[in-house]
Amino acid sequence: MKAVIESIGIYVPDRRMSNDEMAQIVDTSDEWIYSHTGIHNRHIAAPDEAASDLGAAAARKALDAAGIGPEEIDLVLLATSTPDYVGLPSTACVVQDSLGISNAGAMDVMAACSGFVYALETARNFVEAGTAGKVLVVGAEVYSKIINWQDRTTCVLFGDGAGAVVVSAADDSSESWVGKALLASEGKEAESLYRSHGGTRNRYVEGETPEEELYLKMNGRRVYNFAVRAVIDTIQHLLDEAGMRFEDLDYVVPHQANARILEAAAKRKGWDIDKFYINIAEYANTSAASIPIALGEMQAKGMLKRGMKLATVGFGSGLTYGGSLISW
Ligand code: ACO
Repeated sequence: MKAVIESIGIYVPDRRMSNDEMAQIVDTSDEWIYSHTGIHNRHIAAPDEAASDLGAAAARKALDAAGIGPEEIDLVLLATSTPDYVGLPSTACVVQDSLGISNAGAMDVMAACSGFVYALETARNFVEAGTAGKVLVVGAEVYSKIINWQDRTTCVLFGDGAGAVVVSAADDSSESWVGKALLASEGKEAESLYRSHGGTRNRYVEGETPEEELYLKMNGRRVYNFAVRAVIDTIQHLLDEAGMRFEDLDYVVPHQANARILEAAAKRKGWDIDKFYINIAEYANTSAASIPIALGEMQAKGMLKRGMKLATVGFGSGLTYGGSLISW
């Protein structure tokens, strides 16, 4: 049995915020943001839009594209680090209910920006084991609600959005497949990118917890250095495992955190940067949603042909990283 990506749906909020608009909120500029990250714009959820709203919109499109109804889904996996609720219930359950998916288990996968890679690997295992026929895998994020809008070192980097895929079972002879992923974690670096308060480690205490402690904090330099290494190690691992050369890949579909991270990794290895699909200019970092949004865009542009070899690579808080080979 093989697992294949049967369809994709993506959704980004209508509200588009440019770097120039960002410069009216914090002391920054289009020149600084673009030169350091490759970002020009990001999309921002409405005040009443939560991760599940974005995720459900993308998931509905994925079901429509597959031509299947909600009753055919056996499992809903939702990758997010900006859930609707703190801890419970899972955002996957909210999406399951919005879509009327009545015969499926539902759970969140929490691996920050590597979340889609982790969730896709979980889906692949369920499908290949024969315990689920169709799995809905969603990446949905609203970082605009967890960033400190007064901290220019982080708020310029993120955007909101969602992407979803239907992963289905196929015969062993299928030319399309999702390959075994590399999943990795360096938990000792947990505090390089985290929200320090509001959880059970440091509870929110009214009148005592400073508001900024509730938002995302990041050691940018540290994460940058980790990310370059994670991109290189993941792609090289996938190539070595498959006995392939970089030239055998059609595209790398990376997590979109910073175009300069991808350029640095490609330069260090002598890899062709044009094989990396980069759309960060329009969406900024949408965390667990960035890889499915990229896949959805590539498909809409007619870039993906049956049998093409893609390598995904994700990296982020945890610190987590990983990726998989996909034969389209
Ligand atoms: N506008 C203008 N100036 C800025 C801004 C800004 N938005 N942000 C920082 N600066 C200033 C700093 O204050 C600093 O000024 P100083 O020298 O006077 O102190 C200067 O620019 C350089 O700051 P650095 O932090 O050294 O800038 P750097 O070149 O490292 O770039 C960046 C920062 C873009 C954040 C980079 O470190 C990076 O991309 N890191 C990785 C981030 C990442 O990928 N995070 C997501 C991981 S995925 C996940 O799980 C969420």
